[in-house]
Amino acid sequence: VKPLKVGIAGLGTVGAGVVKLLDANADLIARRAGRPIVVSAVSARDRRRERGVDLGRFAWVDDATQLATRDDVDVVVELVGGADGPALTLARGSLLAHKPFVTANKAMLAHHGLLLAELAEAAQVPLKFEAAVAGGIPVIKGLREGAAANELSRVTGILNGTCNYILTRMEKEGLEFGDVLADAQRLGYAEADPSFDIDGIDAAHKLSILASLAFGTRPDFPAVEVQGIRDIRLADIRQAAALGFKIRLTGLAEVLGDSLVQRVHPTLVPVGHLLAAVEGPLNAVMAEGNFVGRLFFSGRGAGEGPTASAVVADLIDIARGENGPAFAMPAMALAGLKAAGPMAR
Ligand code: NDP
Ligand code: HSE
Repeated sequence: VKPLKVGIAGLGTVGAGVVKLLDANADLIARRAGRPIVVSAVSARDRRRERGVDLGRFAWVDDATQLATRDDVDVVVELVGGADGPALTLARGSLLAHKPFVTANKAMLAHHGLLLAELAEAAQVPLKFEAAVAGGIPVIKGLREGAAANELSRVTGILNGTCNYILTRMEKEGLEFGDVLADAQRLGYAEADPSFDIDGIDAAHKLSILASLAFGTRPDFPAVEVQGIRDIRLADIRQAAALGFKIRLTGLAEVLGDSLVQRVHPTLVPVGHLLAAVEGPLNAVMAEGNFVGRLFFSGRGAGEGPTASAVVADLIDIARGENGPAFAMPAMALAGLKAAGPMAR
């Protein structure tokens, strides 16, 4: 049986996690995938950095974009981050070289999702990104495949683990915002630039991907209205609690008339609501379908193990030969509704 040979760009929280998971569960993964999944080549900035994994077994590639054209790489996994730069060069190069491409990079998908979907379809290879939204929760698969037969009217949820972790610790331990952010970074939840988390940008990236899956539109990040949690104080959380609410950073995408409205902002959630029970680095996604009714997905939305789990799930799909459309439908059809941007209201 031919193994699936994987090239990994980026060996930080998620990339090192993928190597660890492929090592730890190698036999189980090979049985489920129908063949072994092995890392053949890796790339990061600093070759000497200690990452808690033995990299001596793999070819080291100084320029990550070269993974796209190596003979010892069947599938490229991009875990560098950034909407443009080397991540986008690698994505384009891989798809143009007819190599399946897996990424956790929601920023790149929110900005260039349609282009990448078009390249993947032209090359007839999979473009997979389960890890890009809600970490370990299989919400991409859930919406794209599980709810495929439904008309969805709205998608809402808690989409940023860092913000939820910060808000929950403020609420439970009476800490101020600034006291908790460093812990979220140390635990590997935060983006390289944590302002993406606390200003709501990361959640908006994810919302634009979910909206695309739910409503058949192209991912349209500039159309998302965004407000983060930077200005939330402990006093706000206490005042909300006195009135029977918790504060959560939520995202909402819904169809109003012929427009798609997408918003991310701090929200007062009644204490008895499902979203109020989502604590720490957990995420949750709720969707309403016309036949399935309400769907509720929850689980760990950030960190090494959950995110690596989603990346490897994509690799297993690829090893099995699955190759459906990246978003809800073929890229050519991703025109659909007009997203209503922030200036439109
Ligand atoms: P890290 O910052 O921990 O890791 C980034 C990795 O990319 C590092 O290994 C770094 O190298 C490498 N890198 C940076 N620039 C280059 C370059 N030019 N060429 C090659 N390698 C480069 O990030 P994460 O692992 O946290 O995140 C990776 C991706 O996964 C991002 O897109 C992020 O948004 C996404 N993601 C992260 C989640 C999380 O919980 N952390 C969850 C879901 C998605 P070096 O180590 O040498 O500095
Ligand atoms: N920084 C992101 C978060 C990582 O905190 O949710 C997971 O996408």
